[in-house]
Amino acid sequence: MESELLSSKCNLEPVDLHDEAQFRELRRQRTICGWDFDPHTLQKWRDNNHLKKLFWITVPNTNTNEASIRTGHISLNKLPGLLEPDMAKENEVEISISSFFILPEYRRLRLGKRAVKMLEQLAVTEPFGDSCCRYITLTALSKRYIYDEAPEWRGIWQRLGEPLPSFSIQEWYESLGYVSWKVEPLYAETAMDGEPITLWEAFMKKDLREKNRRPG
Ligand SMILES: CC(C)(COP(=O)(O)OP(=O)(O)OC[C@H]1O[C@@H](n2cnc3c(N)ncnc32)[C@H](O)[C@@H]1OP(=O)(O)O)[C@@H](O)C(=O)NCCC(=O)NCCS
Repeated sequence: MESELLSSKCNLEPVDLHDEAQFRELRRQRTICGWDFDPHTLQKWRDNNHLKKLFWITVPNTNTNEASIRTGHISLNKLPGLLEPDMAKENEVEISISSFFILPEYRRLRLGKRAVKMLEQLAVTEPFGDSCCRYITLTALSKRYIYDEAPEWRGIWQRLGEPLPSFSIQEWYESLGYVSWKVEPLYAETAMDGEPITLWEAFMKKDLREKNRRPG
């Protein structure tokens, strides 16, 4: 099964949150993810689907002729932008990635990397993207939470009662060509002792035109 999935074709299929079964499945996946799973957030996503477009990350179901397997989801967002005002020219569009999740049983099969690459293609194409899209942006947990021994970095995992992650998501995006331009406090968490913890995120971007540039 694993080797089949590694070589099988992976697709991005638009999520229809007006379909009750898909709404339930997204809620199930978000609940496993642990972020943005409350009905209010999901309703908001359903109502703003022209700005935040969600996709299922699917693989063919080889056991039956039934519909493909929804291994996770990812979204492409036209607003709000993350870039600083001077980072893009007036006619250069920015599209960001968020709400990215692969179910634990389908991880490490390169589905995540394939999904990001497919999303980069969708970002420059109508109807979901924009032919003027130059930058893909996102935020990812700072790698200092993996490598910096200080209590406010690696020390947070013990305070949150969670294991140290086995890899850095910031580095994972770096391996796909994303570069960080700043790290800032962004998300509020609560430690097991009730104390607030603010998580610092790396703001990352990829210039889609750069890969087409040839030296000389
Ligand atoms: C981040 C995430 C989407 C990655 O999806 P994935 O399909 O498992 O990732 P891939 O298989 O494409 O990653 C391949 C590479 O990433 C690294 N990697 C991924 N998971 C890893 C793990 N658990 N431990 C160590 N390295 C890991 C490895 O270098 C791996 O290559 P290898 O298998 O050849 O060693 C998935 O782990 C996830 O859903 N995590 C929880 C939600 C999350 O963090 N979302 C992103 C928020 S910005």
